[in-house]
Amino acid sequence: MEELKVPNHVAIIMDGNGRWAQNRGKKRTFGHQKGADTLKKISEYVYDKNIKVLSVFAFSTENWKRDKEEVDFLMNLFLKAFNKNFESVKKKGVKVIFSGLKTKLSDKVLDAMDKMSEETKDNKNGIFNICINYGGQDEIAEAAKKICTDVVDGKIKTSDINTSMFNKYLFNDLPPIDLLIRTSGEYRISNFMLYQMAYAEMYFTDVLWPDFDENEMDKAIESFNKRDRRYGGVKKK
Ligand code: IPE
Ligand code: IPE
Ligand code: MG
Repeated sequence: MEELKVPNHVAIIMDGNGRWAQNRGKKRTFGHQKGADTLKKISEYVYDKNIKVLSVFAFSTENWKRDKEEVDFLMNLFLKAFNKNFESVKKKGVKVIFSGLKTKLSDKVLDAMDKMSEETKDNKNGIFNICINYGGQDEIAEAAKKICTDVVDGKIKTSDINTSMFNKYLFNDLPPIDLLIRTSGEYRISNFMLYQMAYAEMYFTDVLWPDFDENEMDKAIESFNKRDRRYGGVKKK
């Protein structure tokens, strides 16, 4: 059997928690609880598969529109997860980083994020990028702002600007996304990692995030293996 190629950077839009709970006559928050368990399981699995970078969409800049009860529940869930769920990822020697705006998040959440990043900053076995209060357009606009400041301050010249240096001004200097997975049957990007997704292979599944498991992850990787990545070129026969 031919050996499977594993994508270097996998990004996941973890969607469908609310519907999963509502299908069971439960509150949406019950789905988020289950979704957190799924993330724990999948984050462990991914690094065992030798995938080096995992980015997950945990909370978008648009998610503040939801009821306070749901937002508060999610913030508490993040706190719990940072303090407990991701111990296993830390043990695997994975570096945890965060992408997103620091505005609107409570000091408690920000402190927990800082602690996680600090504790894992020298880890070399993989990168776990958690996107909280994240918007792809914000990330690009913020990078443009920082570049302008550096030009005005004389640190760089306008002619220094190119796609790879632009990448360094994003929330984190990450490699391009190879495989983007979105659960729950929605076929959109919802303002997720726009810059990094330029040549990502897309994988959409109807499975709701709380039901996503190792087997579903394998299916996504198998699908990735069937793709012919041409990057605009022509494949030689
Ligand atoms: C994804 O599930 C989790 C977050 C956006 C935080 P949803 O809460 O969006 O679930 P649905 O899409 O309403 O089912
Ligand atoms: C995207 O899901 C954000 C996260 C998974 C955190 P949403 O449920 O917020 O996206 P839309 O509203 O369906 O586009
Ligand atoms: Mg949703």
